[in-house]
Amino acid sequence: MRHKIMDFRSDTVTRPSEEMRRVIASAEVGDDIYGDDPSSNELCEYAAEMTGKEAAIYACSGTMGNLLAFATAGRHGESVLAGRRSHVWCSEVGGLSAIAGLCPYPLNDDGGIPAPEELSAASRADGDIHHAQTTMLALENTHNYAGGIAVPPDKFAATAREGRRLGFHVHLDGARIFNAAVRHGVPVGVYAEEVDSLQFCLSKGLGAPLGSMLCGTREFIEEARRWRKRLGGAQRQLGIAAAAGLYALKNNVARLAEDHENAALLARLLKAGGVEVEEVENMTNMLFFPLKEGQISDAEFEAKCLEKGLLVHTISPRRIRLVTHLDVEREDVVSAAQIILEVLSA
Ligand SMILES: Cc1ncc(COP(=O)(O)O)c(C=O)c1O
Repeated sequence: MRHKIMDFRSDTVTRPSEEMRRVIASAEVGDDIYGDDPSSNELCEYAAEMTGKEAAIYACSGTMGNLLAFATAGRHGESVLAGRRSHVWCSEVGGLSAIAGLCPYPLNDDGGIPAPEELSAASRADGDIHHAQTTMLALENTHNYAGGIAVPPDKFAATAREGRRLGFHVHLDGARIFNAAVRHGVPVGVYAEEVDSLQFCLSKGLGAPLGSMLCGTREFIEEARRWRKRLGGAQRQLGIAAAAGLYALKNNVARLAEDHENAALLARLLKAGGVEVEEVENMTNMLFFPLKEGQISDAEFEAKCLEKGLLVHTISPRRIRLVTHLDVEREDVVSAAQIILEVLSA
């Protein structure tokens, strides 16, 4: 067994740096439910300013940030249009239905975002007594399961604007919106201004240990605050977590470009070794490849990589995802590629 375990499962696996731990240890705190936690308040103001929204609220996780948006903007018995490969549809335990009471209608998001023309065709905002009236559109950027695609600003705007034209509340699951912004060299506000609410994660590429921000109008965020309390997600000395989030936003955004370069290098090395890495436009910090018919099983592949010091994740049967992040160095990328090629050729 190698000394160091290289973890390519996700960008959620990063550990707080020494500096971030110092910031956490010295964070000023209060009681956030009384509204007097200074670090939490500062983080919310900073997130709102960065995204160009009136207000922001801290959520325990990306899933909770999205759920707060669905519960706040939608009403039981209405419907939401969401990509069929979106995280909110595939991986949030049906919370948008189970808790927010929304019926999801799927859109084709294989290319990272549904085409604008798809929206009116899928919409049930037609007054028909049989239909769950559509009031929301949920987008995702970067798009995880479609390949970590950073949807470009113009393409994103076209679909978001069509959603707004149709009268929907447009929500962005921007768990990795900073990866998209860095990939396209634009401020995050370029995406944020096209939507009514957005959620972004502090605990993915930005390297904070936990938390997400939901941003929107002041009125929307006040209602989201009620939902957060109802769901048990309001917390007390939140500054401990908020200080880490603030540090992440101030220090770890621009460096996401390094993760993108590392992922591109990994893709090149694997392809050179014969691996059929999925080709996506505007790739960011992740890549995907299939385990072919007759090749090693998913479990064996994971186990053999781990024996050699590499953690990988089978995202769905026969499909491997590798993610670069703050705790992955360029030399880890080279070693990871070597290990994968060895395991596949054994
Ligand atoms: C695109 C996307 N949205 C939302 C989430 C949910 O975030 P969390 O795991 O913090 O609930 C994830 C997590 O991987 C994600 O990839």
